[in-house]
Amino acid sequence: MRNCGVSTAPFRIFRKYDKALDYIHKHGAPIVIKASGLALGKGAYPCKTLAEAEKALAEIMLEHVHKKAGNEVLVEEFINGVEISIHALCDGKTSIVLPASQDHKSIFAGGKGRNTGGMGTIVPVPGVTAETLKEVSEQIVRKILQALAERGGPFTGCLYPGLMMTAAGFKVLEFNARFGDPETQSYMRLLKTDLLDILDACVEGKLSELAIEWHPGFAVCVALASKGYPGECKKEIPIFGISEAERVPGVIIFHAGTIFSDILRTSGGRVLNVTAVGETLQEAINRVYEAIRYIKFKGMQYRKDIGVKAIKP
Ligand code: GLY
Repeated sequence: MRNCGVSTAPFRIFRKYDKALDYIHKHGAPIVIKASGLALGKGAYPCKTLAEAEKALAEIMLEHVHKKAGNEVLVEEFINGVEISIHALCDGKTSIVLPASQDHKSIFAGGKGRNTGGMGTIVPVPGVTAETLKEVSEQIVRKILQALAERGGPFTGCLYPGLMMTAAGFKVLEFNARFGDPETQSYMRLLKTDLLDILDACVEGKLSELAIEWHPGFAVCVALASKGYPGECKKEIPIFGISEAERVPGVIIFHAGTIFSDILRTSGGRVLNVTAVGETLQEAINRVYEAIRYIKFKGMQYRKDIGVKAIKP
């Protein structure tokens, strides 16, 4: 990002615990500590206090909770703003930026508690204009694709930068080379064009010949998680009420951590993704939470504020 002129938070990289700790003490809080490697979306620790930062660094570099992913850490400036997820489909030459989505990463409502892989999403995000998406396309996606092509590795697939929208413009927090989870569940509810046709066009380098069509309105996805998530969770807990929940208009449920052994049971941290569409964001939110009332498994936890901040910032 530095080399390509893509706007990101100022950061330092450390491979030694003592040096990282020293820097954190000099810098002060708030501050963000990130395991540098792949950590299932759980490697970023936004820390409001020095004590939180010390604990995060110890978890990553001394307790090795993310294993080798924590051999190196990034210590970044804490950026205030609204987080959005961008998904750009790329065929190596052309890219198409999808409507913005918004994940809710912390385990508890109001941005509290540990970061998770994502507890719920909305698509599109009110206030993220076509003009902003055009800027994102030009200032981030195209610059990165051009840099990758120049280095001999043209990118084909889904490029997913996570951005912070700040008063001073957007800053990239991370890049993924995959679809977001649970962003994709919301996208699937609004996508009119067949996803397979889009992916084929990416592979065949024919994205410029395709116009992606969308249903109007909004989609919301709420993740139902097991007790203990994002830490260790008990598995094989019976799940009830899915058919009843899917009778609520506009609702479809995607399975994530489930297994069918005589009956439907849990088999992971994020168990089900309940999605709903609506003409308005509020209608989609109402439907998703109405559906969730029918679903039960012991220890089930979920956020009750998905999409609420987008309506009442
Ligand atoms: N929703 C966050 C991720 O897919 O990384």
